[in-house]
Order: sequence, then C-alpha cells, then structure tokens
Amino acid sequence: MDNPFVFSGIVTGKKFCNRAGEQDDLINYINASQNVLLFSNRRTGKTSLLHQVFSRLGKDIGRMYVDLYGTVTEQDFILSVMKNIGQLESRIDRLIKITREIFTSANISLSVDPVTGLPSLSPVFTAKSKNLMLDNVMALLDTYSKKKKTVVVLDEFQEIENYSKGDFEKKLRSIIQHHNNISYIFAGSKQHILDRMFHSTGRAFYRLAESYPLPEIDEISYLKWIRGNFGSKNTIPDSTILDIITICEKHPMYIQQFCYHLWEKKPGSGDVINEILSLIISRNENEFMSLWDNLTSNQRKALKLIAANRGVDLYSAGSLSSVGFTSPSQVTKSIEALMTKEIISKNGKYVIQDVMFKQWLLRL
Ligand SMILES: Nc1ncnc2c1ncn2[C@@H]1O[C@H](COP(=O)(O)OP(=O)(O)OP(=O)(O)O)[C@@H](O)[C@H]1O
Ligand SMILES: [Mg+2]
Repeated sequence: MDNPFVFSGIVTGKKFCNRAGEQDDLINYINASQNVLLFSNRRTGKTSLLHQVFSRLGKDIGRMYVDLYGTVTEQDFILSVMKNIGQLESRIDRLIKITREIFTSANISLSVDPVTGLPSLSPVFTAKSKNLMLDNVMALLDTYSKKKKTVVVLDEFQEIENYSKGDFEKKLRSIIQHHNNISYIFAGSKQHILDRMFHSTGRAFYRLAESYPLPEIDEISYLKWIRGNFGSKNTIPDSTILDIITICEKHPMYIQQFCYHLWEKKPGSGDVINEILSLIISRNENEFMSLWDNLTSNQRKALKLIAANRGVDLYSAGSLSSVGFTSPSQVTKSIEALMTKEIISKNGKYVIQDVMFKQWLLRL
C-alpha cells in the first residue's frame, strides 16, 4: 500500500482529517450568501478545507476558486478571475451567451484551457476597455449568480493590498456589495494585513465579511484519522501518535510529514520520534538559517525568549536578562517586527508560527 500521508499540496477526502464542523459552517455561509474572511497561520489547511467544501456542494451551487498568489496589479486580478470562469460554466455555448451580454467581442477572447479542458476567457486590454474590465468581469459573476446561487473563493486575498493604494479595494467593494446571491470567501494567512483590511474603520472592506479564524483540529480526531490511515500496518501505540500531535502542536502539515516518515520506518526501530524530528528539522535547516540570518540581534533574542518561555512572561527582569535584553521596549519593538514578518502571531500568547522553526531554535 502507498504511503497515505501527504504533506504538500491540497488534500481532500481520505487524506483530509475531520473539520466536519468547519465544513458545515462554510456550507451554511454559502447557502445564506454570506461573505466570510477565513484566516489562519501558514499551511494549516485553508485551501484544502475550501476544496473539501467544494466537493460537498450540490449541483445547484455555482463555485469558483481563484488563487491570487503572486498577482500584483488590477489587471492580474482580472486575468485570474477570467481564467477560472470555466469552473462556473463548462458549456461553451452558455458561456458565450452570458459573455456576449456583457462584453463587446472587441475586448474579450474565449479559449479552452489545454490542461483542464474548461473554457477560459482572456481580456484584451485597450485604453478604452481598461477601466470597464473589472466592472465587466464582476458583472459576469453577478449575472451568473442570478441563475444559480454562487460561491467565489478569493484565496491569498491579502495580495490585493498592493495593487493600487486602496483604490482597487474601494472599487471591488462597491461592486461586490451588490452581489446578493454570491458568497465571497476571502482567505489568507497574512493576518496583520487582513486584519487591517477588514477591521479598520477607514478601510473599504471594513465589516464586509464575517471573520472565521480556522480552529485547530482536536487531538481525538487526529488520533482516529492517523489510526485509520495506518490500518492493518498499525503497530504504533496511541502514546506515540499523541506525542507526534503534541510535538507538531496540532499543525496538520507537520503531522502529515511526521506520519509520512513514521510509515516509512521499520517497526520497533530505535527512538523513532526523535529521529524523525531531527530529519524534518535538517531538511528545513537551510530555510531556517536564512530566516535567522535576516533578523536583527534583538529580534533573535526575542524569538529565543518566546521559544523558551512558550510565548508568555516576556517582560520580567529574569526573562529580559536570560537573553540579554536591557529594556522592555527592546522586546516590544522586536515583537512588532516579528509580527510584521509573520514569524510570530498573537493568540492570547505569542506563538512562533512555524513549529519546526521553533524546534530548531530550541536546539540552538
Ligand atoms: N484537514 C487536514 N487533514 C490533514 N492534513 C491537512 C488538513 N489540512 C491541511 N493539511 C495538511 O497541510 C498542508 C497544507 O494545507 P493547505 O495548503 O490547505 O494549507 P493553507 O492554510 O492553505 O496553506 P497556505 O497558508 O500556505 O496557503 C497539506 O498539504 C496537508 O499536508
Ligand atoms: Mg492556501
């Protein structure tokens, strides 16, 4: 049997652990055409959850997933949406019909994506059409949604902040707030940017979506799912599985990676847990070192303190002196910088987002 654990790319079905409650919540939002802001730390399963939810939706709901990662301009945004339009309507004749209602033939061309076999639209940007293009492509979604309730996922949504100093945000908001039959799901991991966009009163997306921080997967669900995956090969005691869940701090990607290596190990060989932990850390070492090299010395001290003190009690005299800080303001400034770099986040206490980076730090 092939190794059932997958630690890269999107996972769904049997490779996807639980999240039954989150799937139901998102389906309810979609049925009610509500907008949602789905966020969590890197590689904790947002995109996989969204694909899992899509796989459960009935035929009566139109769905479109757009990955905005790497887009830097409004034109890129338009291109990304248009490229994916075939997810909504795979019949070319129908797509031509609604496209014709909105676009003039001069500024749009239709082709079939050679990889997916789905139709795809490409805009021809002319000076005249440029300003209308966003209105048009979004009107296409609106027209489609009048026939069929629709969900549009805009993944890595924080990218839009860089397009054009707030102007794009305003334009997009003024359009989508009228789309009553579409549930927009905005997803991303850059929490400080998303927070600013959706929770600052002066910003266009202020309260346009309900916040949905992706919760952790609980221990029991992981345990059952890992057991199920090992199946008859299972000679691994529950205590070992629970240790893995704890070391990985319930992080799904690292749990998959840990279990992947556990599957490959011969039963009963040595101190498996520590061997696998060292292996994963060593595979990531170059990346961790370059991250470390790019930090200032105070930021490094703050990170070490957070790792050693589990994110609490950072300002006591003992804590400050343990890593060589001379004043609390140095901690505050370093923490701010680490938050902006998305290396740490705050969730009641400070946490180092990358669990294995933290394990590497603890070994320094
Ligand atoms: N529910 C789950 N069950 C098991 N593994 C999961 C689950 N969700 C995510 N994973 C694991 O985590 C990895 C990352 O998942 P995914 O790409 O969906 O996360 P993400 O939050 O969208 O990441 P990013 O922040 O990089 O966009 C997957 O390749 C898989 O190994
Ligand atoms: Mg993702």
